[in-house]
Amino acid sequence: MSIALIILAAGKGTRMNSDLPKVLHRIADAPMLVHAMQAGAALDPDHTVIVAGHEARAVAEAAQEHDEAAQVVLQEEQLGTAHAVAQAREALAGFTGDAIVLYGDTPFIRPETLQKMAAARAAHDVVVLGFEAADPGRYGRLVVEGGALKRIVEFKDASPAERAITLCNSGVVMVPAPLLFDLIEAVGNDNASGEYYLTDIVGLARARGLSAAAVTCDEAETMGINSRADLGHAEAAFQARARAGAMENGVTLIAPETVFFAHDTHLGRDCLIEPNVIFGPGVTVETGAHIRAFSHLEGCHVARGAVVGPYARLRPGTELSEDSRIGNFVEVKNALIGEGAKVNHLSYVGDAQVGRDSNIGAGTITCNYDGVMKHETRIGERVFIGSNTMLVAPVSVGDEAMTGSGSVITQDVAPGALAIARAKQVDKPGFGRKLMEMLRARKARQDKERG
Ligand code: UD1
Ligand code: CA
Repeated sequence: MSIALIILAAGKGTRMNSDLPKVLHRIADAPMLVHAMQAGAALDPDHTVIVAGHEARAVAEAAQEHDEAAQVVLQEEQLGTAHAVAQAREALAGFTGDAIVLYGDTPFIRPETLQKMAAARAAHDVVVLGFEAADPGRYGRLVVEGGALKRIVEFKDASPAERAITLCNSGVVMVPAPLLFDLIEAVGNDNASGEYYLTDIVGLARARGLSAAAVTCDEAETMGINSRADLGHAEAAFQARARAGAMENGVTLIAPETVFFAHDTHLGRDCLIEPNVIFGPGVTVETGAHIRAFSHLEGCHVARGAVVGPYARLRPGTELSEDSRIGNFVEVKNALIGEGAKVNHLSYVGDAQVGRDSNIGAGTITCNYDGVMKHETRIGERVFIGSNTMLVAPVSVGDEAMTGSGSVITQDVAPGALAIARAKQVDKPGFGRKLMEMLRARKARQDKERG
C-alpha cells in the first residue's frame, strides 16, 4: 500500500507560553514533531507532508533535518483541521495511495496502531482512530451505530446525549488521498467554532454511501501536548516506557527512575546502567558494557565490555573500543579509544586517537584548540602517557612510547621513545630544612608583635 503522511503542525500552541512553536518542544531530546514523523515512518510512507504555520521556517528546518525528503507546506491562517489538510493537496497532486493525517503535537501513536488502521482500510473507505476516554472532556465524539462509524461531532456542537459518549476522536484518520481532498472540498464552517472541521469528512462520506470505521487504541497513545505541564507528563511517560523497554531487552537498571533516555538510545543485552545516568541523542551501548553512576553520554558508541564512569562525560564522536576504560571526571570528544586502552582519571581527550592497550595518566589533556582551529592528537599502541601531560595538538606519540609526568609535548614522539618536556629538577642540599626554620622564626616574631 502506498502511503502519504500529512502531519498538522500549524498551531501556535499559545498555552506553551513560548517563543518556540509547540511542535518543536522536545521530548527525550527530539522535537515532538520528530516523534510524530517516527510513528508514521513505521508505514514506510512515500510522502511526508508537514503543514506548518506559526514559525513555519523553524518547523521546516526541524522536519528536514530529520528527513530531508519531508515536504513542508504553509497554512497561513489556521482556519481548522480540514483547511490545514487542504494545504497538502498540491504537494500530493497525482498521488493515488492512502493518506494518514497525524498531529504534530500528538507524539505517541504506536506503529502497531497505524498498522491496525491500515488493515481496517482494506474494508472501509474512511478509518478513524478513536479511544475510550477516562475523562472525555472537550474531545470530539465518535457516533457509532450498528458497529459502523456514522459521524464525528465536536464537543461544542454536541447534544447532551452525544456528550455522554466516551468514545473519542484522536484526530488520526486514514483515507485514500483523492477521496480525502474531495471530501474536504465539501466541508463548510457553519459550526460553533466557525472552523473547517476535518471530522466532518466522516458524515460526508457516509452520505455518499461510503463506509467508515473506528479503530481504537490506548488513551496514552493519543496524549496531546498543549502546555508545559503536558510536556512534563509526556516526558515522564516516554521515560517510563523507555526504562521498561530496556529492562525487557535484558538491560539492568539499578535505579530505573534515575536513568534518562533519548528518543534513539540503543542499549545491548546485559548492559549494566548504574543510577543517575543520562543519555543524550545518538548513543549506542553494546552488549555487556557497564555505565557507572552519574555519567553523561551523547553521540557516542560504546563497544562490548567497556566500562565508563562514574562521573564520565562522553561527547559526540566518541568511539570506545572493546574493553576500554573511561574513569571518573574524564571527558572524551570526537575520539577513538582503542581496545583495552585506559583513561582512568581527570582527563580531557578530544579530537584524538588512542591506540590499543595504551594508558593515559591522570590529568592528561589534549590541547586540541588553539583559539581558532581544532587539531588532532594521535597516540599509538601500548603507549604510556605520564600523569599531567599536556599534548599540544597537532602532535603524535608513536607505539610503545612514554611521556614523563608533567610534560608539555609540542613535538611528535618517536615510537619507543621517552619524551620529557619539563624544567629539570634542581636539588639544594639542606635548604628545605633551613627555609622552614626561617619561616617559622618569622611567624613567631609576627605573633609576638601582635601580642
Ligand atoms: C481536534 C478534533 C477533535 C479531537 C481532538 C483530539 C477537529 C475539528 N477536532 O480538536 O475531534 O478530539 O483534535 O486532540 O479536527 N491545526 C492546524 N491548523 C488548523 C487547526 C489545527 O495545523 O487550522 C493543528 C493543530 O496545530 C493541532 C491539530 O491540528 O496539532 C489539532 O488541532 P486542535 O485545534 O488542537 O484541534 P482540537 O480542537 O483539539
Ligand atoms: Ca487539541
